[in-house]
Amino acid sequence: MKPSGNPLLFTPGPVSVSPRALAAGSRPMIHHRTPEFHALLENVVEKMKRLFGTTSDVLLVHTTGRGSMEGALRNLFSPGEKLLCICNGLFGHMYAEIAEACDLEVQKIFTDWLGPVITDQIDTVLGQDPSIKGVTVIHSDTSTAVINSVAEIGDIVRRHDRLLVVDCISSLGAIEFKFDDWKVDAAITASQKGLMSPTGISFVAVSQRAWAAAEKAAKPGYYVDFKNIKKFYDEKRETPGSTPVSLVASVNEALEMLFEEGLPNVYRRHRILATAIQHSAQAMGLTLLPRGDVVRSHSVTLVQAPEGVAPAAIRQMAREKYGLLIASGLGDFKETALRIGHLGMITTREALLMVAALELILFELGVVKKPGSGLAAFHACLANAG
Ligand SMILES: Cc1ncc(COP(=O)(O)O)c(C=O)c1O
Repeated sequence: MKPSGNPLLFTPGPVSVSPRALAAGSRPMIHHRTPEFHALLENVVEKMKRLFGTTSDVLLVHTTGRGSMEGALRNLFSPGEKLLCICNGLFGHMYAEIAEACDLEVQKIFTDWLGPVITDQIDTVLGQDPSIKGVTVIHSDTSTAVINSVAEIGDIVRRHDRLLVVDCISSLGAIEFKFDDWKVDAAITASQKGLMSPTGISFVAVSQRAWAAAEKAAKPGYYVDFKNIKKFYDEKRETPGSTPVSLVASVNEALEMLFEEGLPNVYRRHRILATAIQHSAQAMGLTLLPRGDVVRSHSVTLVQAPEGVAPAAIRQMAREKYGLLIASGLGDFKETALRIGHLGMITTREALLMVAALELILFELGVVKKPGSGLAAFHACLANAG
């Protein structure tokens, strides 16, 4: 018998939604211009501030992540102004494309997906070019499974008195983020990843410096107008337009789950399981990408498919035999690599299942000669983690 029901999602978003978040989202509709909704929105926004690590404003925006990525640029900068975009991955490049679509002048840096980000170079470029108004960077680039050091970049960008815009869409809720301490000016996340909720809404943290910039932005646009969204929140605890109330309710419940677990425990769980999955993959003979000494994400792992095996074949077996959905590589990695998502509602149970299934698949494909080494590595990691 084949596994029935929806496959378990080992994709780096959307992730499996917790039954609690699903139930919260399916309660009878409340109207978005009522005291019940006002209380719900305030609750979510206050929790999101804690998650972002900020005492500044957090805006709820009715779009997926990219809408808020674009909104942040339109609200902080004016057409013709110059941005430095750190492009070490598909989403880094995507942010540069979004900036171009906003008629900003874009200077790309670190355009190699697998290359390092050398912070001294950012320092040099900003020092040489005072016309650069801001910098974009992806915290956890979901295409390369690498973490960029927002703390280090934030120090440099602030020293040069520019604005730092960070996409933490595939990290927030899984990996610690410190908006205020890291000197970030705008950070964007979305509901379908670390927030363990259905896709559809996003959140933006906005610093006081960003608000000062927003006063001068020439074309903020209409739908994602930060000042208008803030006004609605400050004056009425509402959002402009018809709010996707059910999604807000889901996110509120998922956030409650994160705080019940305790944020340090949430980050520890993701770190331990990510490390265990990465060690297991290596023990099974798989190569982690990018090769070498990089800071790997705790929300997704990129592995090269074994010589002569199409990643699509592994993904198909995982889905059909074990009911597990693994993501394909992106861009140049589409035909050669797999992305194993491990964020959100992942526990040791799910991670074990994934490693065991992968090992059986690789055994069946003749890649692993004697199954067991992947699981042994997994157990060793857990034992070492205490
Ligand atoms: C790092 C990162 N940035 C941006 C996006 C795009 O967000 P959305 O699909 O919510 O518009 C994604 C989605 O996978 C992502 O992982």
